[in-house]
Amino acid sequence: MPLPKRVLGRTGLEVTQLGFGAMEIRGDRIWGGRPCDDNQARTILNAVVDAGISFIDTANDYGKSELYIGRHLAHRRSQYYLATKCGCHMVYAGDHDETPHFWNRENLHRNIADSLLKMQTDSVDILQLHNPSVEQCEENGLVDILESLKKQGAIHWLGCSSTSPHLATYINWGVFDVFQIPYSALERRHENLITIAADAGAGVILRGGVAKGEPGVAQGRPADRWDRFEKAKLDELLEPGESRTAFLLRFTLSHPHCHTTIVGTLLPEHLNENVSTAMRGPLASDVYEEAKRRLDTVGESAE
Ligand SMILES: NC(=O)c1ccc[n+]([C@@H]2O[C@H](COP(=O)([O-])OP(=O)(O)OC[C@H]3O[C@@H](n4cnc5c(N)ncnc54)[C@H](OP(=O)(O)O)[C@@H]3O)[C@@H](O)[C@H]2O)c1
Repeated sequence: MPLPKRVLGRTGLEVTQLGFGAMEIRGDRIWGGRPCDDNQARTILNAVVDAGISFIDTANDYGKSELYIGRHLAHRRSQYYLATKCGCHMVYAGDHDETPHFWNRENLHRNIADSLLKMQTDSVDILQLHNPSVEQCEENGLVDILESLKKQGAIHWLGCSSTSPHLATYINWGVFDVFQIPYSALERRHENLITIAADAGAGVILRGGVAKGEPGVAQGRPADRWDRFEKAKLDELLEPGESRTAFLLRFTLSHPHCHTTIVGTLLPEHLNENVSTAMRGPLASDVYEEAKRRLDTVGESAE
């Protein structure tokens, strides 16, 4: 059975509701990431596409991520949509790399040239601004730069990765085709803005959909928000045999405007779990509502 798909807003792209976040294959030089060698990257990336996942998100400053996508998936380019991000930069700093942002035409052009080269492709489906403030976006004419890249054929759709307080303004502008927004049961603040973005016709990419996986089970960097899961007594809502991470993923998939959620993993067994969870689909509507009610009582609410 194929993975469920959704239309990514006005882009019209039909994407799998479970996408892949390729930040986990960045390697250990960026933001305290895990080592990821060539073999691991080849295995997980090909498992992603073999599973039928058709949407991959990365960024120009995700360490080795774009390089690995090019090396191991360029020959399968027609099987997935590709989104990357710009405005960032990687700078050698001895035992790690720093990732400062530069919001100007020169850096955005450097980003896209570098991304296309590394990923061995002529164009990306979506280029997202990597979390600029509204002021940075206005002062530097970033939308015009994206528009010109679209005219030149390097990108097909304009995207913006953003959060409050900037997100609402960006949605109002009506110029971005796609937004990348954090959302899960443990991080609900953008729940209503997601609906507003989708109602305005934008595609919605949700990140943080498994809140980095249940601590102790996930092997990557743990998130600090999992205490809310217990406080809200969400364990009582799990189906027999269902993991907490699977419940969280189904909660995210239950948002009516979750077009895709980009979950990352280095482990094929976790990928398999995420795929079978996505096949089971969203929570029953009464369970979704009950989970939200319980989360409200512990202060985890939509803004
Ligand atoms: N500002 C931005 O634009 C921004 C910021 C952050 C992230 N992103 C994008 O969003 C994507 C998602 O990032 P995220 O921060 O939300 O983290 P995430 O990719 O959702 O979480 C990754 C963590 O979840 C664990 N995990 C995945 N499936 C699991 C399962 N079934 N059971 C247990 N653990 C599981 C992984 O560990 P294992 O390897 O052990 O499975 C890993 O430690 C990134 O890859 C990136 O593309 C964008």
